[in-house]
Amino acid sequence: MCGAAVEGLASPPMTSRDDQPPRLTTLTFHGPLSEARARRLVDRLAATGPRTVLDLGCGWGELLLRVVGAVPGATGVGVDIQAEDLARGRAAAEERGLADRVVFAEESATDTTRGADVVLCLGASQALSSAAPPRSTVEALRALRGLVAPGGRVVLGEGFWERTPTADELAAMWPDARADEHLSLGDLVDAAIEAGFRPLWVETASTEEWEEFESGYRCATEEWLAAHPGHPSAAATRARVDAQRAGWLRGYRGVLGLAYLTLAPVV
Ligand SMILES: C[S@@+](CC[C@H](N)C(=O)[O-])C[C@H]1O[C@@H](n2cnc3c(N)ncnc32)[C@H](O)[C@@H]1O
Repeated sequence: MCGAAVEGLASPPMTSRDDQPPRLTTLTFHGPLSEARARRLVDRLAATGPRTVLDLGCGWGELLLRVVGAVPGATGVGVDIQAEDLARGRAAAEERGLADRVVFAEESATDTTRGADVVLCLGASQALSSAAPPRSTVEALRALRGLVAPGGRVVLGEGFWERTPTADELAAMWPDARADEHLSLGDLVDAAIEAGFRPLWVETASTEEWEEFESGYRCATEEWLAAHPGHPSAAATRARVDAQRAGWLRGYRGVLGLAYLTLAPVV
């Protein structure tokens, strides 16, 4: 998966106190997802009139909150293992008057028995399978097929190779990156069909969405670094964001895609 996301998960939790580098405060979504695409996804899902919405590996659950907010009376559950992100989700639910309709549960999504009319899994298929990718993608699709209610919808946001990466690009991406780590878009959609879905909508993040995400991922930290060059944490923080940026610009930029598949379970 994308270096920015992997780094974000692996990094120690950081606070937004001025004396520490901030963590992901400038991102609306924890992935390359524009407001326009999010709106279209929400409209499409809301039109099916779901009573329940489940977001697996939800982070702070921005899309979950928007879908629940768009359907009067719908309820939602977001599942993640990151307490700090879940707390951000709960605060947002409170602010939007959704606290009585959305629960953020701190638990692993692996082998979850929860289910819903709409199941979201965005950039988080690793939460549904402990297999190495791309086997994890196939297993995640199979799990999602078992969790979505008949007549419901799944939205899977999943990485794929836009083209086969070169050896130099792989070396720059993330530790142990492999050319067989992701499927092509065609093979990803075939895997969804194989798992028991019909692909209602196939869309992929644009260059602009990737640039917004990658820059937004580090922007607050870069501002902090510019303002705190002599801080005891500055050298380690600078090395971390420089490595992340190099992984993107020299490695996966234009090579790693992110597909948003809106899937309907076959009866
Ligand atoms: C790239 S983030 C995506 C977050 C969110 N879906 C979004 O698009 O904004 C991946 C998320 O998967 C979560 N995750 C990883 N392993 C998990 C697991 N076993 N159970 C639940 N969540 C998990 C991480 O904590 C992280 O929040």
